[in-house]
Amino acid sequence: DMGGHDTYMHKEIFEQADAVDRVLRGRIDDRFSTVHLGGLNLDAREARGVRRIKILGCGTSYHAGQIGAQLIEELARIPADAEPASEFRYRNPVVDPDTLYVAVSQSGETYDVLAAVQELKRKGARVLGVVNVVGSAIAREADGGTYVHAGPEVCVVSTKCFTNTVVAFALLALHLGRIRDLSVADGKRIIDGLRRLPEQISEILAGEDEIKRLAAEYAEAKSMMFIGRVRGYPVAREASLKLKEVSYIHAEAYPASELKHGPLALIEPAMPTVAIVPDDDLLEKNRAAMEEIKARSGRILAVAHQVQEKADHTIVVPKNENELDPILMGIPLQLFAYHTALAMGRDIDKPRNLAKSVTVE
Ligand code: F6R
Repeated sequence: DMGGHDTYMHKEIFEQADAVDRVLRGRIDDRFSTVHLGGLNLDAREARGVRRIKILGCGTSYHAGQIGAQLIEELARIPADAEPASEFRYRNPVVDPDTLYVAVSQSGETYDVLAAVQELKRKGARVLGVVNVVGSAIAREADGGTYVHAGPEVCVVSTKCFTNTVVAFALLALHLGRIRDLSVADGKRIIDGLRRLPEQISEILAGEDEIKRLAAEYAEAKSMMFIGRVRGYPVAREASLKLKEVSYIHAEAYPASELKHGPLALIEPAMPTVAIVPDDDLLEKNRAAMEEIKARSGRILAVAHQVQEKADHTIVVPKNENELDPILMGIPLQLFAYHTALAMGRDIDKPRNLAKSVTVE
């Protein structure tokens, strides 16, 4: 049942305010400015002993894990990074007892992720799952973890589960941070920010008509560039993947700072750029990157917290706490990919060559 929507992708994009509300529900502890995650199976003493966090996933879940790693470093000050599960498994990784491993998966059945979890467990590591489907293989193999509570995702292309996974990581980061050095005031600041998300998501989705218009304007491109820095970079990667998957338009994602090291050679009027420009300490750097692109006659669509003069168009999104900005900035670009694909007559819920869960290697 698509509940009045023409595709599951559209329905699922529009379910995000409710889905985020669901992942927060019952978990916030205002008294201690922290959150409770029931199934982690990691007590405070064990959590304090964690020296590193390694996040493993594929595709969109890997991108959510990249944002998750940044959230963990920012809020808990534990060194963290994300890696594609398939690559991790084949490079004979050094498995360290003080590292906490986190497997991320919507389906909980992705073979590359499951195999990485099994290899880690064989080597005695502790593995948590950040999974959407309850009782799935990865959820069962993991030592503990947290469910993402996005609800069923039918469209092959992941949207609401991406957003909820990032929110689940924010909860994990907040929890770990409050066991360590994150202050009560910062804990409260993040909680207040999390509570603002559902309404801000609705605000973004209310701008659909304008995004649809922009999609029509940019979608004649053969290829598009997506750029961002630090918090904006995984957002750019995910938006680039989304556009590729549903529209089949070629897209590249780069850190804005890397443009001058090569990809700037691609910039010309027929190669528009989508720039993720949060209002944070990298704003001026991002403006400088947009200037470089304009100087090469590149067109720019910015996703930002205020209208960007250097850009040809700006999709303005509501500001949250800096750490939580990536959660919101990708949402208009889900709609951008959707409307681009719709205008091109693509099979949106079942893009060619793709399957919802990849249970083979
Ligand atoms: C992208 C997409 C895929 C999946 C990937 C992992 O829209 O759907 O990239 O994210 O195949 O799937 P899960 O999260 O089920 O492990």
